[in-house]
This record gives sequence, C-alpha cells and structure tokens, in this order.
Amino acid sequence: MLPEISPATADALRTAFDRVDYRTDGVRALLGREAHAALGRGEPEPAFRATADGGALGVLVRLLLLGAVEPDAAVAAALAPLTPADAAAAGLLRRVDGGWAAALDLRPHGDDDGGGWWVLSDLSDFPARRQERDHVTGVGGASLTLASATPRTPVGTVLDLGTGCGVQALHASRHARAVTATDVAPRALAMARATFALNGLDVELLDGPWLAPVAGRRFDLIVSNPPFVPGPARVDYVYRDSGQAGDDALAALVGALPEHLEPGGVAQLLGSWLHVRGEDWPDRVRSWLPAGVNAWIVQREVTDPALHVGTWQRDAGLDLHSPTARAQAGAWLDWLAAQKVEAVGFGFLTLRRTDEAPTVVVEDLPEEITDPLGPEVAAWLDRVVWLRAHAADDALLGATLRLADGIVLERYATAGDEGWTDAGAAVARAEGPRWRHEVDEPAAALLAGCRGDAPLNELVELLAFAHDRPADAIVTAALPAVRELVRHGLLVP
Ligand SMILES: C[S@@+](CC[C@H](N)C(=O)[O-])C[C@H]1O[C@@H](n2cnc3c(N)ncnc32)[C@H](O)[C@@H]1O
Repeated sequence: MLPEISPATADALRTAFDRVDYRTDGVRALLGREAHAALGRGEPEPAFRATADGGALGVLVRLLLLGAVEPDAAVAAALAPLTPADAAAAGLLRRVDGGWAAALDLRPHGDDDGGGWWVLSDLSDFPARRQERDHVTGVGGASLTLASATPRTPVGTVLDLGTGCGVQALHASRHARAVTATDVAPRALAMARATFALNGLDVELLDGPWLAPVAGRRFDLIVSNPPFVPGPARVDYVYRDSGQAGDDALAALVGALPEHLEPGGVAQLLGSWLHVRGEDWPDRVRSWLPAGVNAWIVQREVTDPALHVGTWQRDAGLDLHSPTARAQAGAWLDWLAAQKVEAVGFGFLTLRRTDEAPTVVVEDLPEEITDPLGPEVAAWLDRVVWLRAHAADDALLGATLRLADGIVLERYATAGDEGWTDAGAAVARAEGPRWRHEVDEPAAALLAGCRGDAPLNELVELLAFAHDRPADAIVTAALPAVRELVRHGLLVP
C-alpha cells in the first residue's frame, strides 16, 4: 500500500504530534542522551525502558520508532484527533494482534538550525521490506552528509533530484522560494508526497528519470543523492542502483547538469567513481565535467572491491552467507575485476555555472570532518572567484591577506645522535576541513606577516631584505603556495 495523506489527516497528525511533542527535541528529552545514542546504534532496549513512563509521547516513540505493538486505546489517545483507523487508511499503521503497529517509518527530523519536520519512509528494521526493489530509504548517513554539505545561501529555485523520502527538499524549503523534487519510483514519489503533505509544504513533485522531468528548466541550486553505487548494469534496489554500468550514470548526470543551472547556480551531489587500473581517478572524474563550470570534487573514502560489495550488501540487510547474497557478490566482484576496477572512491561533487575560465579541483580529503561542510563549500566557491579575479601576479601581490582564525604552525623534528633535528614545518587549519600545507622558513615568515594590514608585495620586500634574497625569487616561490592557501581557506583576502 502506498501512503496517501490528505490535508485533513496532515492537520490532525500535526496537532497530535505538537500536543505530545513528537519532535526531535521532545523525543531526545524523553529518551535521554544514553538511550537516544543507543537507539542510533540500533539498540532499542534502553529506549524501551526510557519510554515506559513516557505517556502519549512514549506510546508514539514505541509505536513509530521502536517497532512495538501498542494497544488500541493508547494509540487512539496519542494520535487524537486522528483515529488509528484513519492513520491505517493513510498507510501509516497496521492492525495487528494486540493493537496497532507502524506500517511506515514516521520520525521527526531537524538539524542544528532547527527544521522541525517529520519524514516518512519504509521501515528499515524489517529485512523483508528492506529487500524489496522499491524500498524507500529514510534519513540515513548519506542523506545527512549531503544535507550538511549543501550551501544554505538563500536562493530562488531548488531541484532535489531523486528525492526518495523527501529529506533534501525539506532542508531546501528553508532557504528557497520554490522547491522541485523528482523521482523515478512510484513508491518514492508517494512517500515524498506524503512527507511534504505532513509538513504542509508546497513542493512541486515530478515523475521521471534524471533530468527528463525538468527538460528546458534551470535552477539556482540542484541537490542530489542519486543511486550512485557502482556495479553491473542492473537494478536490485532503486535507491542504490542506477541501472547503468559502473559510474556511467553519474558521469552522464554531471555532464548534463550545467544546462539546468542558472548563471552562478550550484549543484551539490554525492557520488562514487571507479579507480581503474592504469588510469588516474582525478582524470576520470575531470573528463565528465562539461565546459562552463567551476568544479570541486572531494574524495572522502576509497574502498577496495571486496569492501565495496560487502558494505552495500550489508546496507541492504542481506545475510551475506545466503546462496543469493553469495551469487550476487560473486557476479559483482567478477564485473569489477573484468573492468579492471582496483577501488571505488566516494565523495562530494560541487559544480557552479560560470561564464569565466573555469577552475576545476579534484582532491582527497580523507580526514574526519566534524563541522558541516556546506559553509565551506560556499566559501570555496567564493574563493575561486576571488582567485580568478586575482589571477595575475600583480593583482595577487597587491592584495592584503590575513591568516584565518585558528591556523596553527606545526614544526616537527627527527631524533638523531645530537638530539632533535628540525625536519620541517606545516600550517594547518584547526576547524572545518583540516587542510595542511608544508612550509619552509621564508613562507612561514610571510604567513606570520599576513595580518590584514599590509599588501603581499610589501611583505615580500621585507622578507627579501631580511633573508637577503631577491624579491623575484620569493615571488616565484611564494605565489603558487599563496593561491593554494587561499583556496583551502588558510589565508583570507
Ligand atoms: C539514495 S536515494 C536518495 C534519497 C534522498 N534524496 C536522500 O537524500 O536520502 C536515491 C533516490 O533516487 C531515486 N532514483 C533512482 N533512479 C533514479 C533516476 N533514474 N532518476 C531519478 N531518481 C532516481 C530513487 O528512487 C531514490 O529515491
């Protein structure tokens, strides 16, 4: 059964949820930090204990988040003014022995900036449902990764391609005038429609593959967590498999995106690419990019073929020892081997439409990121525009720069017979992406002078005098490094 939430049902549900505080903060307060964290790890027992005396909110948490059967009277009281029968007619509940059980996952969702939404998706803890081809995933790690990596600058129009449960569109609704969401799967479209109805949001929902539903249209921002998992050209799960071989679908999407971006418009995607023997992975991804876009491709993880296949089979809830799973893994590994795939990369792709000569950067960022990447993405896009405007050496030398807050200089040494011997130094960011750049002594001195009160050419002259080196030699050595440091946010114009 597909969910279908009428405006009256949505109103009644919101009334009930507001009354019992079925929201992220309310649930967290009821569960407490420990049980909340345990639930996040898939351990329900602490949450059952924490909700035992939780009244109507406890009933909803057990019913909707813990997969419990709750008695008719308790569910009726918790959901009033919506009746359990009406909730079942909307596809949310199932009548079972002893009362009611959830038919779908219906959970509060928000982030540090608020939100206060509810998201509908398929139940993930029931393997039978999870293994259906059209399973609609809820708000998972990848959803949150994309949401936090998306710049939240106020915009006119946003496209969420492959909306699924609708989570990216919810986040977009906070900073866009109009949101369009697409999907190719009828079950996902029904789920997204129900999520939007529940939140009282007017999102344009379109049916069709990739960019076909928005042919001829342009957006200020396009976000997508597409089915990007590389494998043979088949679809076992529509949320995961594109139906095209390897990373072909992502390559085609990246190539087609810019014509759907307004001038200056940004696309923010998650994706995976193959590392093929004898080929440089950055060259592979660079070859997908069309003309007319600044692009920042950040590789966050690299997995070997066995880990890649195992991870995604486990994600689908398969018993990896079952004959079906083994046959699937065998075919998948054979395909990867035949394509000479040595590893699979995963990361972010940011594109911004530009009329100027484009900047394309493809790089690794393997360290953990604790802060949301969205502000960093927005800043990166601004920095490459600034660097483009200061592409001439004279322009850069005339600029006044300062070292960003929280930059540290690390010196390291190696032990020898005489004690410690200096072996080098590096400057590194202490917040956001922990970019780190090796520096020599003159460069370290130049950076120390970047305090926002003197242009670079004055600092170079001082340095040339102090180190008794020609200023030209310092300029030649320093400017490429300065550009890199600006691009990585260590030096701020
Ligand atoms: C990984 S899920 C992402 C769901 C959601 N946007 C999120 O961030 O959690 C991918 C979504 O893309 C949809 N999809 C699969 N193939 C598609 C295609 N060819 N065109 C558009 N959407 C597609 C799936 O139905 C699924 O909802």
